[in-house]
Amino acid sequence: MEQQHLINLAYLVAGILFILGLKGLTHPRTAVRGNLLGAIGMLIAVLATLCDHQVLGYKTIALGLILGAIIGALMAIKVQMTGMPQLVALFNGLGGGASVLVSYAALATGSESLITSVAIICSGLIGAVTLWGSLVAFGKLQELDFLRKPLRFSGQQAANLVLAAVTLLFGVLVLWYPNPLSFFVFLSLASVLGVTLVLPIGGADMPVVIALLNSYSGLAAAATGFVVNNNVLIIAGSLVGASGVILTQIMCKAMNRSLFHVLFGVLEAAGEAADADEVYAGKIKSTSAEEVAMLYDSAERAIIVPGYGMAVAQAQHAVRELANELEARGVEVEFAIHPVAGRMPGHMNVLLAEAEVPYEKLREMDEINPSFAQTDVVLVIGANDVVNPDARNDPTSPIAGMPILNVDQARTVVVVKRSLSPGFAGVPNPLFAADNCLMFFGDGKQAILDLNRALKEG
Ligand code: TAP
Repeated sequence: MEQQHLINLAYLVAGILFILGLKGLTHPRTAVRGNLLGAIGMLIAVLATLCDHQVLGYKTIALGLILGAIIGALMAIKVQMTGMPQLVALFNGLGGGASVLVSYAALATGSESLITSVAIICSGLIGAVTLWGSLVAFGKLQELDFLRKPLRFSGQQAANLVLAAVTLLFGVLVLWYPNPLSFFVFLSLASVLGVTLVLPIGGADMPVVIALLNSYSGLAAAATGFVVNNNVLIIAGSLVGASGVILTQIMCKAMNRSLFHVLFGVLEAAGEAADADEVYAGKIKSTSAEEVAMLYDSAERAIIVPGYGMAVAQAQHAVRELANELEARGVEVEFAIHPVAGRMPGHMNVLLAEAEVPYEKLREMDEINPSFAQTDVVLVIGANDVVNPDARNDPTSPIAGMPILNVDQARTVVVVKRSLSPGFAGVPNPLFAADNCLMFFGDGKQAILDLNRALKEG
């Protein structure tokens, strides 16, 4: 068989492995196997590509591989678990950046067909939007001061629309007069578009944007596949693009946002945050490990609600021990998982799986919400926005319309966090001032360890 046929066969096998891998990732029980299948598929794809006759020399590839491996390994070792969402955003962006570089190189060497030229434009456009959009998203997730608040001004959507139209027009111009300078201007416009699309987004809309940028990075890779005429890049890019769109849709549903509005950057205008002093003044009741342990003495049903603070405190193992201890005392324990708790899709599921909390104990928002009213003690650990009743009750709140876990309906709610600081959306939470809420101030892990000790001693 000819070499090219063998390579295509290898690509086909890799493509099948990617699809099986994605299927495996849809359930926690098969996720590890899914990951492995995807990785084997990628290995086959890389090896087959290296055998391609288009590869003119291995020196630059080897250099890139060594440099990339060193930087990647250093980042993976250095980054904290809490920095993972930012790292993922950065990796998405770098995928887009790679597409930009390939498109620039392809334009410089000249293209043979109209299809390739269109692919070069698409690869540059989507790549630049992804790169710069992801960098802004990285800054927002990193909670950099100047990016923390969504930047909004009147006529912003119209300005974005005009910018998008001018960028596309430049793209068409590059098609007719391909030269590095006009392509550079086109890429610059696309980069500004990437920044301006993500800048106004904050609070409840960020998870949707993260998923969308993930999808864009796949589409950029697929377009690059057409540029360099590589089938496996087209397949892999399309799979990432399509799964990203599905994830975006799931996020939209979870956040009660419309996919159309998100796709066209028309995100709901958010209101102003309420004043924290007004919300909390004189209404906060703090509690201790011993008091919470006593609450559990008379409890029959308990729910644990994890949030971003559990990831920061790395409290998942202590939380699992707490659940075990309560169950040993005959208390029925479940975990309530909000779809955007934490900073990346599935964040809480990953942490709790790492601590070996049985998957059957995790309940999704829609499933568990009706049962809060029949629950004796709800322990919220490091969650804030996802349990903020203002999202449900106050239409002027910046997080209005975001579905929440209705923890305020339980008999008693205990909130573990270090202070009254707000969560990601930067808004005060009236739950903390509610009559049935007790604040258990402290670092998440230490607080739960103290609680476990108090339960054992009590
Ligand atoms: P947040 O609303 O961000 O609240 C986290 C809380 O954890 C903070 O109020 C903080 O309070 C507390 N905390 C931090 N470190 C802690 C520690 N060591 N011990 C105890 N508590 C600690 O978290 P959430 O409820 O999980 O909501 C997620 C938010 O992130 C939503 O607004 C969502 O839209 C956004 N977001 C989500 C995603 C995805 S895909 N999940 C992506 C981007 C943005 P203290 O400082 O007082 O301790």
